[in-house]
Amino acid sequence: MNVPFLNPAAQFDSLRVEILAATEAALAKGHYILGPNVSAFEAEAASYCGTGFGVGVNSGSDALTLALRALDIGPGDEVITSPFTYIAPAESIHQVGAKIVFADIHPRRFTLDAAEVARRVTPKTKAIIPVHLFGQAAPIQELRALGIPLVEDCAQAIGATVEGKPVGSLGALGCLSFYPTKNLGACGDGGMVLGSDPALEKRLRMLRVHGIQKRYHHDLHGYNSRLDDLQAAILRVKLPHLNAWNARRKAIADRYDAGLRGLPVELPETAPGNSHVFHVYALLADRRDALQAHLAEKGVPTLIYYPQPLHLQACYADQSWKTGDYPVAEAVSRRILPLPMYPELTDAQVDHVIGAIRSFFA
Ligand SMILES: Cc1ncc(COP(=O)(O)O)c(C=O)c1O
Repeated sequence: MNVPFLNPAAQFDSLRVEILAATEAALAKGHYILGPNVSAFEAEAASYCGTGFGVGVNSGSDALTLALRALDIGPGDEVITSPFTYIAPAESIHQVGAKIVFADIHPRRFTLDAAEVARRVTPKTKAIIPVHLFGQAAPIQELRALGIPLVEDCAQAIGATVEGKPVGSLGALGCLSFYPTKNLGACGDGGMVLGSDPALEKRLRMLRVHGIQKRYHHDLHGYNSRLDDLQAAILRVKLPHLNAWNARRKAIADRYDAGLRGLPVELPETAPGNSHVFHVYALLADRRDALQAHLAEKGVPTLIYYPQPLHLQACYADQSWKTGDYPVAEAVSRRILPLPMYPELTDAQVDHVIGAIRSFFA
Protein backbone atom coordinates (compact mmCIF):
# COMPACT_ATOMS: atom_id res chain seq x y z
CA MET A 1 0.00 0.00 0.00
CA ASN A 2 1.11 3.57 -0.72
CA VAL A 3 0.11 6.40 1.59
CA PRO A 4 0.69 9.83 0.02
CA PHE A 5 2.05 12.28 2.59
CA LEU A 6 -0.36 14.98 1.43
CA ASN A 7 -3.28 14.80 -0.99
CA PRO A 8 -5.10 18.12 -1.55
CA ALA A 9 -6.73 16.84 -4.75
CA ALA A 10 -8.66 14.25 -2.71
CA GLN A 11 -10.55 17.10 -1.05
CA PHE A 12 -11.35 18.69 -4.39
CA ASP A 13 -12.71 15.33 -5.58
CA SER A 14 -15.01 15.10 -2.58
CA LEU A 15 -16.54 18.54 -3.38
CA ARG A 16 -16.01 18.64 -7.15
CA VAL A 17 -19.58 19.52 -8.15
CA GLU A 18 -19.99 22.32 -5.57
CA ILE A 19 -16.54 23.82 -6.22
CA LEU A 20 -16.99 23.81 -9.99
CA ALA A 21 -20.41 25.46 -9.67
CA ALA A 22 -19.09 28.13 -7.29
CA THR A 23 -16.06 28.92 -9.44
CA GLU A 24 -18.11 29.00 -12.63
CA ALA A 25 -20.50 31.50 -11.03
CA ALA A 26 -17.59 33.65 -9.83
CA LEU A 27 -15.97 33.55 -13.28
CA ALA A 28 -19.24 34.52 -14.97
CA LYS A 29 -19.73 37.46 -12.61
CA GLY A 30 -16.39 39.00 -13.57
CA HIS A 31 -15.53 40.64 -10.25
CA TYR A 32 -12.27 38.79 -9.80
CA ILE A 33 -10.38 40.77 -7.14
CA LEU A 34 -12.01 41.56 -3.76
CA GLY A 35 -15.37 40.59 -5.23
CA PRO A 36 -18.64 39.61 -3.52
CA ASN A 37 -17.35 36.18 -2.48
CA VAL A 38 -14.48 37.87 -0.65
CA SER A 39 -16.80 40.08 1.42
CA ALA A 40 -19.11 37.15 2.14
CA PHE A 41 -16.23 34.85 3.07
CA GLU A 42 -14.67 37.53 5.30
CA ALA A 43 -17.91 37.69 7.28
CA GLU A 44 -18.31 33.89 7.40
CA ALA A 45 -14.71 33.26 8.51
CA ALA A 46 -14.86 36.02 11.15
CA SER A 47 -18.09 34.57 12.49
CA TYR A 48 -16.55 31.06 12.57
CA CYS A 49 -13.52 32.39 14.48
CA GLY A 50 -15.54 34.59 16.84
CA THR A 51 -14.07 37.93 15.72
CA GLY A 52 -15.62 41.21 14.61
CA PHE A 53 -13.94 41.27 11.21
CA GLY A 54 -11.81 39.36 8.73
CA VAL A 55 -9.70 41.07 6.08
CA GLY A 56 -8.81 38.79 3.17
CA VAL A 57 -5.24 39.07 1.93
CA ASN A 58 -3.15 37.09 -0.50
CA SER A 59 -1.34 34.77 1.92
CA GLY A 60 -0.84 33.88 5.55
CA SER A 61 2.62 35.43 5.32
CA ASP A 62 1.15 38.76 4.22
CA ALA A 63 -1.49 38.50 6.95
CA LEU A 64 1.32 38.52 9.54
CA THR A 65 3.17 41.42 7.93
CA LEU A 66 0.01 43.52 7.58
CA ALA A 67 -0.98 42.70 11.17
CA LEU A 68 2.35 44.01 12.46
CA ARG A 69 2.02 47.11 10.26
CA ALA A 70 -1.55 47.67 11.50
CA LEU A 71 -0.16 47.69 15.05
CA ASP A 72 2.41 50.26 13.90
CA ILE A 73 5.37 48.00 14.64
CA GLY A 74 8.61 48.90 12.88
CA PRO A 75 12.26 49.86 13.34
CA GLY A 76 13.35 50.05 16.99
CA ASP A 77 10.66 47.60 18.13
CA GLU A 78 11.14 43.98 19.19
CA VAL A 79 8.74 41.11 18.50
CA ILE A 80 9.03 37.70 20.17
CA THR A 81 8.21 34.49 18.32
CA SER A 82 9.18 30.83 18.02
CA PRO A 83 12.35 29.51 16.37
CA PHE A 84 10.55 26.23 15.61
CA THR A 85 7.99 26.97 12.92
CA TYR A 86 7.57 27.86 9.27
CA ILE A 87 9.64 31.00 8.66
CA ALA A 88 6.72 33.37 7.93
CA PRO A 89 6.34 34.94 11.42
CA ALA A 90 10.07 35.70 11.69
CA GLU A 91 10.04 36.98 8.10
CA SER A 92 7.15 39.34 8.83
CA ILE A 93 9.03 40.87 11.79
CA HIS A 94 12.06 41.39 9.57
CA GLN A 95 9.94 42.86 6.79
CA VAL A 96 8.48 45.60 8.97
CA GLY A 97 12.00 46.48 10.14
CA ALA A 98 11.61 45.29 13.74
CA LYS A 99 13.98 43.00 15.64
CA ILE A 100 13.24 39.27 15.78
CA VAL A 101 13.52 37.84 19.29
CA PHE A 102 13.17 34.08 19.59
CA ALA A 103 12.04 32.20 22.69
CA ASP A 104 12.35 28.43 23.10
CA ILE A 105 9.47 25.95 22.88
CA HIS A 106 7.75 23.25 24.92
CA PRO A 107 9.43 19.87 24.22
CA ARG A 108 6.23 17.88 23.53
CA ARG A 109 3.70 20.52 22.46
CA PHE A 110 6.16 22.37 20.17
CA THR A 111 4.55 25.76 20.90
CA LEU A 112 6.20 28.69 22.73
CA ASP A 113 7.28 28.18 26.34
CA ALA A 114 5.66 31.13 28.16
CA ALA A 115 8.43 31.33 30.80
CA GLU A 116 11.03 31.59 28.02
CA VAL A 117 8.98 34.36 26.39
CA ALA A 118 8.73 36.25 29.71
CA ARG A 119 12.54 36.10 30.04
CA ARG A 120 12.94 37.82 26.65
CA VAL A 121 10.57 40.74 27.22
CA THR A 122 12.23 44.19 27.23
CA PRO A 123 10.79 47.74 27.19
CA LYS A 124 11.08 47.53 23.38
CA THR A 125 8.85 44.43 23.05
CA LYS A 126 5.83 45.61 21.07
CA ALA A 127 4.19 42.28 20.21
CA ILE A 128 4.41 38.54 20.58
CA ILE A 129 3.57 36.18 17.71
CA PRO A 130 2.47 32.90 19.30
CA VAL A 131 2.35 30.25 16.59
CA HIS A 132 -0.45 27.74 17.15
CA LEU A 133 1.79 25.09 15.71
CA PHE A 134 0.59 21.81 14.21
CA GLY A 135 -3.00 22.64 15.18
CA GLN A 136 -2.91 23.48 18.87
CA ALA A 137 -2.83 26.82 20.62
CA ALA A 138 0.29 28.23 22.22
CA PRO A 139 -0.07 28.92 26.01
CA ILE A 140 -2.29 31.88 25.37
CA GLN A 141 -3.40 32.65 28.92
CA GLU A 142 0.18 32.91 30.22
CA LEU A 143 1.16 35.01 27.19
CA ARG A 144 -1.81 37.32 27.61
CA ALA A 145 -0.77 37.87 31.23
CA LEU A 146 2.42 39.54 29.96
CA GLY A 147 0.25 42.48 28.81
CA ILE A 148 1.84 42.72 25.34
CA PRO A 149 -0.30 42.65 22.16
CA LEU A 150 -0.52 39.17 20.66
CA VAL A 151 -0.63 38.54 16.92
CA GLU A 152 -1.80 34.94 16.79
CA ASP A 153 -0.39 32.88 13.96
CA CYS A 154 -3.36 30.58 13.31
CA ALA A 155 -2.11 29.41 9.90
CA GLN A 156 -2.08 25.79 11.08
CA ALA A 157 -4.90 25.94 13.60
CA ILE A 158 -8.21 27.25 12.25
CA GLY A 159 -10.93 25.65 14.39
CA ALA A 160 -8.68 24.99 17.41
CA THR A 161 -9.92 26.36 20.73
CA VAL A 162 -8.63 27.25 24.20
CA GLU A 163 -11.21 26.61 26.93
CA GLY A 164 -13.79 26.61 24.14
CA LYS A 165 -12.70 29.95 22.61
CA PRO A 166 -11.48 29.88 19.00
CA VAL A 167 -7.91 30.78 18.14
CA GLY A 168 -7.78 34.02 16.22
CA SER A 169 -10.08 35.67 18.77
CA LEU A 170 -7.62 35.52 21.66
CA GLY A 171 -5.15 38.29 20.84
CA ALA A 172 -5.09 41.75 19.24
CA LEU A 173 -5.13 40.19 15.75
CA GLY A 174 -5.15 36.65 14.34
CA CYS A 175 -3.68 35.48 11.04
CA LEU A 176 -4.97 32.67 8.84
CA SER A 177 -3.41 30.94 5.84
CA PHE A 178 -5.45 29.18 3.17
CA TYR A 179 -2.44 27.49 1.57
CA PRO A 180 -3.86 24.36 -0.12
CA THR A 181 -2.65 21.84 2.47
CA LYS A 182 -3.96 23.82 5.45
CA ASN A 183 -6.99 22.57 7.42
CA LEU A 184 -9.02 25.07 5.38
CA GLY A 185 -7.15 25.22 2.10
CA ALA A 186 -7.83 27.17 -1.10
CA CYS A 187 -6.69 26.11 -4.57
CA GLY A 188 -3.94 28.71 -4.53
CA ASP A 189 -2.61 31.24 -2.05
CA GLY A 190 -4.81 33.14 0.39
CA GLY A 191 -4.83 34.52 3.92
CA MET A 192 -6.82 36.63 6.35
CA VAL A 193 -6.32 38.93 9.32
CA LEU A 194 -8.93 38.55 12.05
CA GLY A 195 -9.71 41.04 14.78
CA SER A 196 -12.36 43.10 16.51
CA ASP A 197 -10.95 46.66 16.82
CA PRO A 198 -12.53 48.83 14.08
CA ALA A 199 -9.46 51.11 13.95
CA LEU A 200 -7.22 48.13 13.13
CA GLU A 201 -9.73 46.90 10.55
CA LYS A 202 -9.64 50.27 8.82
CA ARG A 203 -5.83 50.26 8.67
CA LEU A 204 -5.75 46.67 7.39
CA ARG A 205 -8.25 47.41 4.62
CA MET A 206 -6.04 50.32 3.56
CA LEU A 207 -2.74 48.44 3.85
CA ARG A 208 -3.87 45.59 1.59
CA VAL A 209 -4.65 48.01 -1.26
CA HIS A 210 -1.61 50.30 -1.45
CA GLY A 211 -2.60 52.34 1.60
CA ILE A 212 -5.67 53.88 -0.02
CA GLN A 213 -9.03 54.88 1.34
CA LYS A 214 -9.94 56.76 -1.81
CA ARG A 215 -8.67 55.49 -5.17
CA TYR A 216 -5.28 56.97 -6.17
CA HIS A 217 -4.88 58.73 -2.81
CA HIS A 218 -2.29 56.88 -0.70
CA ASP A 219 -2.39 57.64 3.02
CA LEU A 220 -0.16 54.74 4.17
CA HIS A 221 2.78 52.86 2.68
CA GLY A 222 0.80 49.85 1.56
CA TYR A 223 0.91 46.56 -0.31
CA ASN A 224 -0.88 44.72 -3.07
CA SER A 225 -2.26 41.89 -0.95
CA ARG A 226 -5.78 40.99 -1.94
CA LEU A 227 -7.73 37.76 -1.77
CA ASP A 228 -9.21 36.92 -5.15
CA ASP A 229 -12.84 36.04 -5.64
CA LEU A 230 -12.21 32.56 -7.06
CA GLN A 231 -10.31 31.48 -3.96
CA ALA A 232 -12.98 33.01 -1.73
CA ALA A 233 -15.70 31.16 -3.69
CA ILE A 234 -13.86 27.86 -3.11
CA LEU A 235 -13.27 28.62 0.56
CA ARG A 236 -16.98 29.37 1.03
CA VAL A 237 -17.77 25.88 -0.26
CA LYS A 238 -15.23 24.34 2.08
CA LEU A 239 -15.81 26.25 5.34
CA PRO A 240 -19.05 24.41 6.29
CA HIS A 241 -17.07 21.13 6.16
CA LEU A 242 -14.21 22.32 8.36
CA ASN A 243 -15.55 21.02 11.67
CA ALA A 244 -16.14 17.55 10.23
CA TRP A 245 -12.65 17.54 8.68
CA ASN A 246 -11.07 18.63 11.96
CA ALA A 247 -13.00 15.92 13.80
CA ARG A 248 -11.69 13.33 11.32
CA ARG A 249 -8.13 14.61 11.90
CA LYS A 250 -8.65 14.14 15.66
CA ALA A 251 -9.95 10.60 15.07
CA ILE A 252 -6.85 9.80 13.00
CA ALA A 253 -4.63 11.24 15.76
CA ASP A 254 -6.42 9.03 18.32
CA ARG A 255 -5.85 6.01 16.08
CA TYR A 256 -2.12 6.86 15.77
CA ASP A 257 -1.91 7.32 19.56
CA ALA A 258 -3.54 3.95 20.24
CA GLY A 259 -1.51 2.12 17.58
CA LEU A 260 1.87 3.58 18.56
CA ARG A 261 1.59 3.48 22.36
CA GLY A 262 4.34 1.41 23.97
CA LEU A 263 6.90 1.98 21.21
CA PRO A 264 10.16 3.83 21.99
CA VAL A 265 8.85 7.08 20.47
CA GLU A 266 7.29 10.14 22.10
CA LEU A 267 3.78 10.98 21.01
CA PRO A 268 2.49 14.56 20.71
CA GLU A 269 0.96 16.15 23.79
CA THR A 270 -2.13 18.33 23.93
CA ALA A 271 -2.14 21.00 26.64
CA PRO A 272 -5.05 20.93 29.14
CA GLY A 273 -7.91 23.14 27.94
CA ASN A 274 -6.80 22.98 24.29
CA SER A 275 -8.75 21.35 21.53
CA HIS A 276 -6.20 20.31 18.91
CA VAL A 277 -7.05 20.25 15.19
CA PHE A 278 -4.02 18.18 14.15
CA HIS A 279 -2.81 20.04 11.10
CA VAL A 280 0.25 17.88 11.75
CA TYR A 281 0.66 14.73 13.85
CA ALA A 282 4.34 14.41 14.67
CA LEU A 283 6.19 12.00 16.92
CA LEU A 284 9.72 12.24 18.31
CA ALA A 285 12.18 9.41 17.67
CA ASP A 286 15.90 9.01 18.40
CA ARG A 287 16.80 7.29 15.12
CA ARG A 288 14.50 9.61 13.17
CA ASP A 289 16.34 9.51 9.84
CA ALA A 290 16.55 5.70 9.83
CA LEU A 291 12.86 5.47 10.74
CA GLN A 292 11.98 7.93 7.96
CA ALA A 293 13.94 5.86 5.41
CA HIS A 294 12.24 2.66 6.64
CA LEU A 295 8.80 4.25 6.24
CA ALA A 296 9.63 5.38 2.69
CA GLU A 297 10.53 1.79 1.83
CA LYS A 298 7.13 0.70 3.14
CA GLY A 299 5.26 3.16 0.92
CA VAL A 300 5.00 5.93 3.51
CA PRO A 301 7.02 8.94 2.32
CA THR A 302 7.25 11.74 4.89
CA LEU A 303 8.46 15.32 5.07
CA ILE A 304 10.30 16.74 8.08
CA TYR A 305 8.84 19.90 9.58
CA TYR A 306 11.15 21.55 10.55
CA PRO A 307 14.62 20.16 9.93
CA GLN A 308 16.45 23.32 11.01
CA PRO A 309 15.27 25.87 13.57
CA LEU A 310 14.97 29.43 12.34
CA HIS A 311 17.83 30.93 14.37
CA LEU A 312 20.26 28.67 12.46
CA GLN A 313 18.98 29.49 8.95
CA ALA A 314 21.49 30.87 6.45
CA CYS A 315 19.39 34.00 5.87
CA TYR A 316 20.09 34.98 9.51
CA ALA A 317 23.85 34.43 9.31
CA ASP A 318 24.30 38.16 9.98
CA GLN A 319 22.64 37.77 13.40
CA SER A 320 24.42 36.65 16.56
CA TRP A 321 22.38 33.44 17.05
CA LYS A 322 24.33 30.21 17.32
CA THR A 323 23.84 26.51 17.95
CA GLY A 324 22.84 25.95 21.56
CA ASP A 325 20.82 29.17 21.91
CA TYR A 326 17.44 27.36 21.72
CA PRO A 327 18.22 23.80 22.83
CA VAL A 328 14.66 22.48 22.87
CA ALA A 329 13.93 23.70 19.33
CA GLU A 330 17.24 22.22 18.17
CA ALA A 331 16.58 18.82 19.79
CA VAL A 332 13.03 18.68 18.42
CA SER A 333 14.32 19.49 14.90
CA ARG A 334 16.63 16.47 15.07
CA ARG A 335 13.97 14.06 16.36
CA ILE A 336 10.66 15.15 14.87
CA LEU A 337 8.82 12.98 12.36
CA PRO A 338 5.42 14.10 11.01
CA LEU A 339 3.12 11.31 9.82
CA PRO A 340 0.54 11.53 7.00
CA MET A 341 -2.42 13.56 8.29
CA TYR A 342 -5.42 14.74 6.29
CA PRO A 343 -9.13 13.98 6.63
CA GLU A 344 -9.31 11.84 3.50
CA LEU A 345 -6.88 9.22 4.90
CA THR A 346 -8.67 5.91 5.37
CA ASP A 347 -8.39 3.84 8.55
CA ALA A 348 -6.61 1.18 6.47
CA GLN A 349 -3.98 3.74 5.41
CA VAL A 350 -3.51 4.88 9.01
CA ASP A 351 -3.12 1.26 10.11
CA HIS A 352 -0.57 0.74 7.35
CA VAL A 353 1.50 3.67 8.70
CA ILE A 354 1.23 2.26 12.24
CA GLY A 355 2.29 -1.19 11.01
CA ALA A 356 5.25 0.27 9.13
CA ILE A 357 6.44 2.08 12.27
CA ARG A 358 5.94 -1.02 14.43
CA SER A 359 7.97 -3.13 11.99
CA PHE A 360 10.93 -0.73 12.40
CA PHE A 361 11.08 -1.49 16.11
CA ALA A 362 10.28 -5.24 15.81
C1 LIG B 1 2.81 28.65 11.04
C2 LIG B 1 2.68 29.29 9.69
N1 LIG B 1 2.61 30.63 9.62
C3 LIG B 1 2.47 31.26 8.44
C4 LIG B 1 2.42 30.56 7.27
C5 LIG B 1 2.34 31.33 6.00
O1 LIG B 1 1.22 31.07 5.26
P1 LIG B 1 1.23 31.24 3.65
O2 LIG B 1 1.91 30.04 3.08
O3 LIG B 1 -0.22 31.32 3.31
O4 LIG B 1 1.96 32.50 3.34
C6 LIG B 1 2.47 29.17 7.30
C7 LIG B 1 2.41 28.31 6.12
O5 LIG B 1 2.36 28.22 5.09
C8 LIG B 1 2.62 28.52 8.53
O6 LIG B 1 2.68 27.19 8.61
